[in-house]
Amino acid sequence: MGKQYFTITYGCQMNESDTERINGQLAELGYTEAPAMEDADIIILNTCSIRQNAEEKVYGKIGEIKRVKEKNPDLLVGIMGCMAQENKGKLISRMPIIDFVLGPYHIHDLKEVVEEELAARQHVVRTQMNPERVKDYSELRAERKSRTFAWVPIMQGCNKFCTYCIVPYVRGRQTSRTVEDIVREAEGLAEEGYKEITLLGQNVNSYGLDFRDGTDFADLIRALDRVDGIERIRYMTSHPRDMTFDMVDAMADSPKVARHMHLPVQHGDNEMLRRMNRGYTIEHFMELLAYVRKRMPDIAVTTDLITGFPGETEEMHQATLRLLREAQFDSAYTFIYSPRQGTPAARMEDQIPDDVKKRRLQELMDVENEISLAKNQAMEGRVFSILVEGPTKQDAGHWYGRTSTNKMIIFPKTDGLAIGDMREALVEQAQTWVLKGKLV
Ligand code: SAH
Ligand code: SF4
Ligand code: F3S
Repeated sequence: MGKQYFTITYGCQMNESDTERINGQLAELGYTEAPAMEDADIIILNTCSIRQNAEEKVYGKIGEIKRVKEKNPDLLVGIMGCMAQENKGKLISRMPIIDFVLGPYHIHDLKEVVEEELAARQHVVRTQMNPERVKDYSELRAERKSRTFAWVPIMQGCNKFCTYCIVPYVRGRQTSRTVEDIVREAEGLAEEGYKEITLLGQNVNSYGLDFRDGTDFADLIRALDRVDGIERIRYMTSHPRDMTFDMVDAMADSPKVARHMHLPVQHGDNEMLRRMNRGYTIEHFMELLAYVRKRMPDIAVTTDLITGFPGETEEMHQATLRLLREAQFDSAYTFIYSPRQGTPAARMEDQIPDDVKKRRLQELMDVENEISLAKNQAMEGRVFSILVEGPTKQDAGHWYGRTSTNKMIIFPKTDGLAIGDMREALVEQAQTWVLKGKLV
């Protein structure tokens, strides 16, 4: 039988996308995907360091893999992604069952490393940051999971250095792909039948600024809008400091740009935003949000929030609760602040005790859940266009699709329905995170 791989992904969409390219490299070596970890000849964990609990999940998984390797000593084990970059060779000295560690800049090297490993069985660690390699994403074959929507990385790294965040340390400085390169990938995807693309970057609004020739995200949007066959364009993540009104106009002018924006605000208090080095005030954020909604009245806006950042007082926490009520986000992902070694915030005084962080998290979730539910209830009785993504995990008789606003609608499967169809769905019953309805 041919060799099989098993890849597990942690973290953000950028990692999901990288995994598709990791799998693409393995496919080029003749590997196919294993149905389970136990059947694999190579296991790769594509890891995330954003919070302590993301790292703990990986350590737990390595424990499980150890038992698999005891039964199959020929198994190759690789750690890739952000923890690989952060911990480098230390991972192998702590856990010798790991055969190789490759940072995010070394997906290009995977084929060579696997072949070397098979020949010589020596531990390999490659974590040098080399932005030039990443520019040529298009060279790397991707084994895409979905046949309807595709991730398209438009840049790597981040220059923002928010004081809590590890990403600039593990993903390096921002490097953008050229507009031509991205358009070429989108055209290829359209030819293959993809209808939706999601542009990925830690901060898509600073796309192209590293070229220093005036190119920006608005130019990219306008260029992609002209690609025939692509019906929906999504993008992740926006940054309130770098998003310009012109970018909002470019989105509003394109019927293809999805009416969903993930715009992380992080906190409702200006002093907290300053200490986080976010580079904007709540007043600026609200002004931007108002303009986004004015130009795209049907848009859904989602956000991220951090609770328990060092020095957060009860009053500051109340400011975030107030912001939630004012801003009326469609949903908010709320995170407990997790100190990351090497970042400025980890060294700040006034770290907040765990029990306070947990209580504040719960209060944020309680307020937001009510708002999210009300927003979804307002969709009841209305019909929306959805891109059909396939059966739900729980029940093959029920399929789901997403609206332009990124809301998931679950409905009973009808005859002749295919993944990738654009259909109209009536929303019958709203819940906090999903909507139930039927095709019309
Ligand atoms: N580049 C994106 C998001 C990257 S990480 C942006 O700037 O918005 C996704 C989210 O994780 C962040 O928006 C933030 O809310 C959260 N996050 C990042 N570092 C964190 C930390 N140390 N502790 C808790 N949450 C964190
Ligand atoms: Fe991290 Fe800030 Fe960059 Fe987002 S913008 S990846 S939160 S440093
Ligand atoms: Fe995690 Fe790295 Fe993404 S730290 S959130 S996988 S960029």
